[in-house]
Amino acid sequence: MKKKTAKAAGKGLRGRDFISMDDCSAGEIRSLFALASAMKSDRKKYRKALEGKMMALIFEKPSLRTRTTFTVGIKQLGGDSLLLTPADISLGKRESVYDVAKNLERMVDGIMIRTFGHEICTTMADHARVPVINGLTDHEHPCQAMADLLTVLEYKKNLRRLKLAYVGDGNNVAHSLMLACAKLGGTLFIGTPPGYRPEARVMERCKDLAAESGATIVWTADPAEAARGADVVYTDAWASMGQEEEAEVRRRIFSPYQVNRALFSLAKGDALFMHCLPAHRGEEVTDEIIDSPNSVVFTQAENRLHVQKAIMFELLRD
Ligand code: CP
Ligand code: NVA
Repeated sequence: MKKKTAKAAGKGLRGRDFISMDDCSAGEIRSLFALASAMKSDRKKYRKALEGKMMALIFEKPSLRTRTTFTVGIKQLGGDSLLLTPADISLGKRESVYDVAKNLERMVDGIMIRTFGHEICTTMADHARVPVINGLTDHEHPCQAMADLLTVLEYKKNLRRLKLAYVGDGNNVAHSLMLACAKLGGTLFIGTPPGYRPEARVMERCKDLAAESGATIVWTADPAEAARGADVVYTDAWASMGQEEEAEVRRRIFSPYQVNRALFSLAKGDALFMHCLPAHRGEEVTDEIIDSPNSVVFTQAENRLHVQKAIMFELLRD
């Protein structure tokens, strides 16, 4: 038995899940940006917006930004949160994902989950009657892409005329960024080693979305082709959480994709440097670039707070 009939009924985001960047239309994404900006500029106005609402925050991987911004965000809206770690619930081992979903839906108003397999997140969403938000899976990191594009809009105003470059691993962060750009328009070059391309089904989906939106999403193995003339150069860790054993091999394969002075100088003079963080300084990015005036990484991190407040409000409001 599932809730989320609101989607079919066209009643906006209320009661829905936020699992993938593909869960929202371009119009819904733009409305979330507008609300996030309003919340950013007038925090007090929304301090009772989710009064009495409780979010369960499930973390199966470490986190600084996601944990802090969801905890602080729901508090700033008048609600509260409860942290559930593997030591508490041992998801899928002590108890099935289904049973956890069926318990939590009776106790809380929304669930945020950071986990490994994307299907764990979708299973939770399929069975919980309350909204489920993806706080990162191996496949996607949609809250990150929302904060990223809000940041780009703050600095560059209009996405459509921009060239964005994502250089590094074709991972969860890349997937969500690609889907978001494909929905909203603009040009995104994804520069990865051939063996580390984004998933083919995400590329295919982006192609379809781009045909509607006018976006251009291009994959290349050449980091210089991606960075040349770019308005934004984005990178992420070469080895994501759960891939620690591959870190050594990946360091060798990804070294030509490091965002350093040589690569960044191919971009426009006023290009933004972006990174979802945590950064591995000296690997995917040099200190010189991440600490340069072009770097907006801490604004990205702050914007997680504002976009997630907007997302929680739209999903959880009465
Ligand atoms: N960018 C991001 O999600 O950071 P955390 O892993 O610290 O939450
Ligand atoms: N791709 C990284 C993102 C961390 C926020 C990971 O999954 O570890």
